[in-house]
Amino acid sequence: MSALEALKTELLAAVAEAADLAALEEVRVAALGKKGRITGLMADMRSLSPDERKERGQAMNALKDEVGAALDIRKAELHRAALALRLEAERIDVTLPVRAEQQGRIHPITQTIDELTAIFADMGFSVAEGPDIEDDFHNFTALNFPPGHPARDMHDTFYLPDRPADGSRMLLRTHTSPVQVRSLLKDKAPIRVIIPGRTYRSDYDMTHTPMFHQVEGLVVDEKTSMAHLRGCLVEFCRAFFDVDDLPLRFRPSFFPFTEPSAEVDIGCLRRGGELKIGNYGDWLEILGCGMVHPNVLENCGIDSTRYQGFAFGMGIERIAMLKYGIPDLRTFFEADLRWLKHYGFVPLDTPSLAQGLTR
Ligand code: PHE
Repeated sequence: MSALEALKTELLAAVAEAADLAALEEVRVAALGKKGRITGLMADMRSLSPDERKERGQAMNALKDEVGAALDIRKAELHRAALALRLEAERIDVTLPVRAEQQGRIHPITQTIDELTAIFADMGFSVAEGPDIEDDFHNFTALNFPPGHPARDMHDTFYLPDRPADGSRMLLRTHTSPVQVRSLLKDKAPIRVIIPGRTYRSDYDMTHTPMFHQVEGLVVDEKTSMAHLRGCLVEFCRAFFDVDDLPLRFRPSFFPFTEPSAEVDIGCLRRGGELKIGNYGDWLEILGCGMVHPNVLENCGIDSTRYQGFAFGMGIERIAMLKYGIPDLRTFFEADLRWLKHYGFVPLDTPSLAQGLTR
């Protein structure tokens, strides 16, 4: 075997043995690099006669081509192998079961607030908030409860212990209506807000807890009428309870801050211990409402000859109990995880009108 043949065999063997791209590159440099063996042999040809050089040159070129081709083939092979290895290493088994069910739950109060916020937001309402600790002015006086008015006593108010000289004791708000006053003083008319939040009254039994939640609604504009109030509440109740023909009944009532005032009943059916919401002929009270009293508007610096409005307030626990069949109000606040697991909602199922309030 000639020296060239031997070199070729050796180089091709080295190419075949290169285990990865780095090793292959070393083989290439050793053979065809500037100081490589083939390159070296080509330089040596200068000492040959022209004829010898021609013959030898052809053989050298053939060798160079052959080794170069072998290098290319091996390189492609190693590339494929490296890719296959990487794909295997980065492989994700999408057939694995999902993680165990999440344990956390959204409390029905939070869920109900999210649901009613979605409904009222669709009607153009924004959300307002106010403090739980209120003063007498916002909770009563500005809402047209004159000092000494008997309606104040009906609120079973929790007063804070400090007694300032002027007699203006702070209190835990007994309803969300003081935020009507705060919103009007701050943003003036026109306005369209709902106000969900905590409220407090000194009372405790199956249907009363000392802390509970209300949502207040307030619309003030130049041509707001009782018809708008009715339309708004019909729309809300039908969307919230998901009953398209749910009837509403307005009964005359009294609140110092609305005139005229009404209590609203929705249609229901009582059978045995069961209660069903719908057009069944029986009635169930769910909220209080009315046209904002001109005195309230004036107390907030709003011209009552130009503006009028409506307001409503309802208990959030109450509508949650009705919608979700929760029998005892007190259980809302017992922090019993079994109760929460049963009545709670899966996180991230945010209520929206487009996707459905509950899924
Ligand atoms: N604030 C009243 C209550 O707690 C409810 C209400 C709100 C009534 C707004 C009329 C208008 O009973």
